[in-house]
Amino acid sequence: MGGRSSEHDISLASANSVIETLRDRYDTVSVEIDREGRWALPAAVPPALGASERSRKPVETLPVPAESSVPATLADVDVVFPVLHGPFGEDGTVQGLLELAGVPYVGAGVLASALCMDKDVFKAVLRDRGIPVTQSVTLRDGDPVEHPFSYPVFVKPARLGSSVGISKVHDEDELGAALELAFRHDEKVLIEEFVDGLEVECGVLGNRDPIASLPGQIVVHAEWYDFSAKYDEGGMELIVPPPISTEAVEEVRRLAVEAFVAGECEGMARVDFFVRGDEVLVNELNTIPGFTSTSVYAKLFAESGIPYSELLDRLIALALERHERQRRYAY
Ligand SMILES: Nc1ncnc2c1ncn2[C@@H]1O[C@H](COP(=O)(O)OP(=O)(O)OP(=O)(O)O)[C@@H](O)[C@H]1O
Ligand SMILES: [Mg+2]
Repeated sequence: MGGRSSEHDISLASANSVIETLRDRYDTVSVEIDREGRWALPAAVPPALGASERSRKPVETLPVPAESSVPATLADVDVVFPVLHGPFGEDGTVQGLLELAGVPYVGAGVLASALCMDKDVFKAVLRDRGIPVTQSVTLRDGDPVEHPFSYPVFVKPARLGSSVGISKVHDEDELGAALELAFRHDEKVLIEEFVDGLEVECGVLGNRDPIASLPGQIVVHAEWYDFSAKYDEGGMELIVPPPISTEAVEEVRRLAVEAFVAGECEGMARVDFFVRGDEVLVNELNTIPGFTSTSVYAKLFAESGIPYSELLDRLIALALERHERQRRYAY
């Protein structure tokens, strides 16, 4: 929980909700990663250090041997639930560490995590499978600024979340500032056509045979679903099912599973769509979506008959199943 990305606080809220719900059925240990990337196990400082040192000093970067009641290394836990959003958590880096440690973990593996974090490459993979996505051009820092779209457009860093660094650009005068903001977060930035449609999100759960939740419409009282609409009390409403045709609902659910499979995801994902008339477009996919019991992902599955605690049980079972399956292969 926590982590280095700008979604640190969101991760803490998600993780606390997970721990609260798991606590009476599982032995839980939380590992908090601070904004500088230091990993801290509770009471994880070697006993040789004095009490005052112990309370101050976080464990440096990677887990180290801990006191007896706490798993000594990552390999001593049965399963890890990375509840980290954004870079250095949702992007395959932590998943790679867990692969090296040989520990089962919840959610997407290394490739899927990295792929789905990158809005540019993810859309390329979806386009290759014939899955409709929003049109965009990708710029590297320093590239000439050109795009074929009429205004407004959206400008976004390729690899971030929670709407951080994203702008709605109403005319050419606003483009420079929007690019400057996005390039503060990533060396790769997308300029995207504005899609004037409903925002619909859908949850996916499973490994080889994933299921889609009922979709829900995101209704915001702001111009678009920006950071404050996402996290301020009353900033958004989720309407399940969304006010679209039955055919469009089925299309969203079908494309959610297709995008999940195309992205090589496992465990969970929340797929974000725009629905414009009959047209359904994938916007993006989050492999570790906001994960409190009242987050969109949990609400969509609750509405679909899978309450939060069962969702967690299933995700843990899926993590163990994946681990067992992958152990069978020689390498
Ligand atoms: N092409 C677009 N057309 C219209 N609105 C858009 C477009 N792209 C983004 N938006 C608006 O910006 C919001 C955030 O965009 P997006 O989902 O791509 O970013 P994110 O930061 O990765 O989000 P998340 O928190 O879901 O990870 C969308 O929910 C939507 O309101
Ligand atoms: Mg989104």
